[in-house]
Amino acid sequence: MRTVYLTGGTGFLGSHFIRNHLLGGSFDVQCFVRGPSPEACALRLDETLREVDASYPDRRVRGLDALTAIPSDITLPAFGLEEAFFAARAGRADATFFHFASSLQYQEKDRQVIHDHNIGGLRHAVDVAAALGCGVFYYVSTAFTVGVHEGPVPEALHHDARFNNYYEETKCQAEHLITELCRERGISLVIVRPSIVIGPSATRRPGGSRTGLYGFIRELHRLKRQLRHTDAPLSLYGSTESEMNVVPVDFVCYDIFSLYRDSVSEGVYHCTAGQNVRVQGLTELILKHLELTGVTFRSFREFDEATASALERVLLRNTAFYASSTAGTKLFQRRRGPGWPMDLDEVERYVIEGVRGLNGADAAARQPPGLRKQRPVARRTA
Ligand SMILES: NC(=O)c1ccc[n+]([C@@H]2O[C@H](COP(=O)([O-])OP(=O)(O)OC[C@H]3O[C@@H](n4cnc5c(N)ncnc54)[C@H](OP(=O)(O)O)[C@@H]3O)[C@@H](O)[C@H]2O)c1
Repeated sequence: MRTVYLTGGTGFLGSHFIRNHLLGGSFDVQCFVRGPSPEACALRLDETLREVDASYPDRRVRGLDALTAIPSDITLPAFGLEEAFFAARAGRADATFFHFASSLQYQEKDRQVIHDHNIGGLRHAVDVAAALGCGVFYYVSTAFTVGVHEGPVPEALHHDARFNNYYEETKCQAEHLITELCRERGISLVIVRPSIVIGPSATRRPGGSRTGLYGFIRELHRLKRQLRHTDAPLSLYGSTESEMNVVPVDFVCYDIFSLYRDSVSEGVYHCTAGQNVRVQGLTELILKHLELTGVTFRSFREFDEATASALERVLLRNTAFYASSTAGTKLFQRRRGPGWPMDLDEVERYVIEGVRGLNGADAAARQPPGLRKQRPVARRTA
């Protein structure tokens, strides 16, 4: 049985990775989870995996007893773990470390938190991996470490990049830092870079993600409520000329797992779709499915502070993150074969599910409390 250490198992990518590839008995999966006790962490992990399982057509969450939840915080030295923890686990053969945990905040006001997680947390992760005798470290980065660059993006470290926000900046710094730290420690390093990750391809449901495409849909859904009492036309501004790369989470997880399965132990790899989609087309689909008929998507270049309405200015501010991460078309290169096939018709199905999820949540919130569906209480199987 191979031992896998993993951070971020309660998050979007980490939970799908565990659910799709690590359950079933071949792996001893040791998860670093935030929480006050092993029981509380195990419960949260189980609940997350059961929720994730519901976004697939075939239910397969079993073998949860192969998971161990270790209360820990990546922002603390040694994740806050005692010496005895490391002593008890030293010398396990074949151990590999997967580092999914990160801060996905991006605003200037959150600089310290972002730094503590994406730089400090990474240093601690390497210390922990070294103390546990892990031979290979898989670092989950992002395709957006290339920053504002447009055009072909190689599977290599980026130098002299300029960034849209501090999240991108720290993730790029982290790639350089981890390369250095792993070299010093004699640990092999694989850097994986997903693009904008959407739900699983089999159902196209959000699968637990609240960021990226779903964050943008949520922002426009909020706008819909604000527009309830007006039919005045409104402009949404963005990168009308650009293309963006969106990729299903199950493909990303498969991409990462196949590197591990094939014993790949070094290099930078894009976990991306084979084709980009037009930002204009995708935004118009979201507006259509949200029934925001009075909203027109226009280029940033047309924005005029003097004539824009107060709501248009607020909307521009609230969607700035999505607009910046889709500004400028990036063509992600992949040396391990073509990426996931993707076009606008296919992305539309994810949009429909994303909108359905929000409308469903609205309908549930409108029901009297007694009629609301109870969340099943997750049970530890071990
Ligand atoms: N989602 C995307 O579209 C996307 C795209 C490209 C790259 N990525 C990268 O993929 C990785 C995973 O992203 P995601 O979307 O899965 O993020 P996510 O859903 O926000 O999950 C983040 C995970 O990190 C854990 N975490 C955060 N702070 C922690 C701390 N102080 N101590 C211990 N654990 C902590 C969270 O635990 P809690 O449950 O306790 O919060 C959660 O399990 C990140 O490195 C991200 O940069 C994501």
